[in-house]
Amino acid sequence: MNIKDLYIEFFKSKGHAFIKSAPIIPENDPSCLFNTAGMQPLIPYLMGEKHPEGTRLVDVQKCLRCTDLDAIGDNTHHTFFEMLGNWSLGDYFKKESIAWSFEFLTTVLKIPVSRLAVTVFEGNADIPADTESIELWKQMGIKEERIARLGVEDNFWIAGDSGPCGPDTEIFYWTGLEEAPELYDPKDERWVEIWNNVFMQYHKASDGMITELAQKNVDTGMGVERITAVLEGTSDNYQTSLLKDIIEYIEKVSSKKYEENQTSMRIIADHLRAIVMISGDDAILWPSNTDRGYILRRLIRRMIRHAKKIGIDLNSDFDLEIARNYINKYKKYYPELERNEKHIMEVLATEKKKFGRTLDKGLREFDKLIQKEGCTKIDGVEAFHLYDTYGFPIELTVELASEKNIAVDVAGFEEKFKEHQEKSRAGSTGKFKGGLASDSDMNIKYHTATHLLNAAIKKLINPDSYQKGSNITDERMRFDFPCDHKLTDEEKSMLENQVNEWIQASIPVEHFDVKKEEAVKMGAEAQFIERYGDVVTVYKIDDVSLEICGGPHVENTKELGHFKIKKEESSSAGVRRIKAILEEQ
Ligand code: ALA
Repeated sequence: MNIKDLYIEFFKSKGHAFIKSAPIIPENDPSCLFNTAGMQPLIPYLMGEKHPEGTRLVDVQKCLRCTDLDAIGDNTHHTFFEMLGNWSLGDYFKKESIAWSFEFLTTVLKIPVSRLAVTVFEGNADIPADTESIELWKQMGIKEERIARLGVEDNFWIAGDSGPCGPDTEIFYWTGLEEAPELYDPKDERWVEIWNNVFMQYHKASDGMITELAQKNVDTGMGVERITAVLEGTSDNYQTSLLKDIIEYIEKVSSKKYEENQTSMRIIADHLRAIVMISGDDAILWPSNTDRGYILRRLIRRMIRHAKKIGIDLNSDFDLEIARNYINKYKKYYPELERNEKHIMEVLATEKKKFGRTLDKGLREFDKLIQKEGCTKIDGVEAFHLYDTYGFPIELTVELASEKNIAVDVAGFEEKFKEHQEKSRAGSTGKFKGGLASDSDMNIKYHTATHLLNAAIKKLINPDSYQKGSNITDERMRFDFPCDHKLTDEEKSMLENQVNEWIQASIPVEHFDVKKEEAVKMGAEAQFIERYGDVVTVYKIDDVSLEICGGPHVENTKELGHFKIKKEESSSAGVRRIKAILEEQ
């Protein structure tokens, strides 16, 4: 029996109903690209809605995270992964949850207690320390030295900024070759987290207010890849029984060794699995240039590029073979993969045909660019040419360039991209080009005003607010943000006054290119961070606003004129929408 069967059978024996994984593409939620955690599809039930299968559930959920695509290629990160979970919806709580986790690990998986350690929540001003879990772990036989009390950063779990949440207790496994030390040290990376039990008894509103939920829930998560690696005694997920045969097949078709080509081989194995899972979803998605379709396109094109890099014949069916292997491996729990096999194959074949045709020429063009004398940067026009003519997603150009230590003007690319979109829009609506120049001046102003409004909301209404949606025409801007109440007239005029104050202060709008991690470290905001490449453009308006953004923006806030809110309304549950205009001074 494999780990998934063992886990599900164990929790069934404790009265849990097995539920099928929710689709990887969330139903009825366009704001969320993919399912990122086991609890996500269960949020309504954690909040109190009745689940048709009862109050104890167990499942294995398909998850996909693409915030960190650049990390793929190391030994543990994946885009697609599976999360095992058992849930109590207002049924059992800490006592059973801890006892059953302990029983499963020590009796079913036969992990010796001497290799286990746990962390629990130490408490803060709002929420008391979780002394109950400490006592329960001790009753199980976990020694005091193996129990660490940690703060909100480590032992309080919430998906994103708001929603159901609570203190958690995490279970760690000693992966060292030598005997585990008596004292658990959270900083020692040989202790690897294998299970997270969240005691969901609170709800955090978008304004930060924490209230008790009507029911006390348990949400647990155990990553299949991680626990498999731990049990099989390897630190490389790609060498586990889950992925080893795929790597061996890639070695065979490329006639190269894994040891010398780890990054590319891992990317091919990882991305193909994610591609199978996304295109095998009943949503029947095709690669495209927006949102989910764009992620699918990026994954396929990046996979193809790495296949070429290690010498795989792109005219062979290596990708279809691997996809077939994944479908067989995963169809037991995800039968939709078999149902949608034809679509998966078509997606791969058509995208490979499209991209394969231009990849060689595009790579030659890329080489030409970087061989130009004194080339240290690919400019926006060049990057756009690679995109438009050869189908190179900007992230691919950035990846190729960074391998040669060359930067890419991503902001310049985005500018060209926008220009191109506007041109094609104008073409399709029959607008004259002449009108476009001044139109887009207005557009640019609204872009900058959007950053100011975002900052004003954060300052005056809710520090955790962020841009949930934005739409700009030449006549107005529209801005959606999380907020649990209708804005009062006073709040609206405070926002207007604040934005106008910043406009009148004539603040220069600066921008610079930095590595994505650095931008995040600086605290720069981004709406879809995964859409950007390694190097990003950050727009800074003094200490008012710092956002990762493709631009373009005005050079100085004084260009904006006078900001006026025209309308404030609900956009969806917990999301407000502001429509505003800029008037001549
Ligand atoms: N929801 C928790 C997690 O994703 C279990 O780690």
